[in-house]
Amino acid sequence: MKSKINPLVLAVTGASAQQLAVRSLQLLLENDINVDLILSKGAYDVWISENKTKIPVDPVKQEIFWRDYLKVDSGILNCHKWNDNSASLASGSFKTLGMVLLPCTMGKIGRIASGSAYDLIERSADVHLKEKRKLIISPRETPFNLIHLRNMTQLCEAGAEIIPCIPSWYSKPESLDEMIDFMVVRLFDSFGFELKDINRWDGKLL
Ligand SMILES: Cc1cc2nc3c(=O)[nH]c(=O)nc-3n(C[C@H](O)[C@H](O)[C@H](O)COP(=O)(O)O)c2cc1C
Repeated sequence: MKSKINPLVLAVTGASAQQLAVRSLQLLLENDINVDLILSKGAYDVWISENKTKIPVDPVKQEIFWRDYLKVDSGILNCHKWNDNSASLASGSFKTLGMVLLPCTMGKIGRIASGSAYDLIERSADVHLKEKRKLIISPRETPFNLIHLRNMTQLCEAGAEIIPCIPSWYSKPESLDEMIDFMVVRLFDSFGFELKDINRWDGKLL
């Protein structure tokens, strides 16, 4: 029997808080977790607005970009173009550890909840649901309208986990970076990973 470490699919959509996805990618690769990365069309624009730089769309150039930006050599990184619907990830026969959408727009949630997969992220999420694999959706919007809430309920009923990134105060974060690390590590707890030590609740009020 051939042994192969399946990748985790990380999908970054056009919602604010791109830094959460970037830190996730860095920690996953540092922990030797292979990642298949898809940025939605909208993610490229939000990245520019939050970081004032451009990410190359070409998968080979993008991998070089991330390796340089994150300063990580470990793990296998495969970047995919948002509209490459013939990619391996578009088929249930391609095995993965699961998929995370972080941060996730209300648009993506709506299209996945309705089953109308259009781009590679939506198709891959649809595949994860039909194959009964782990699908984590980290929504980013406030306030939620009734349609957002209904769509998230629909996804939850179909097997997805809805894990918003919510900062902790009990961990006494001293910087935004610490807060980001806490939220990212907590999200990947769902896979049983321990990406980094964080100040978990120790049961002491004082
Ligand atoms: C700077 C910026 C920030 C945005 N933030 C959010 C957000 O937090 N949540 C959201 O649902 N949409 C947000 N949007 C809107 C989405 O990017 C837009 O609906 C886009 O079409 C989503 O495409 P996608 O779902 O394929 O990524 C933002 C757009 C811009 C330009």
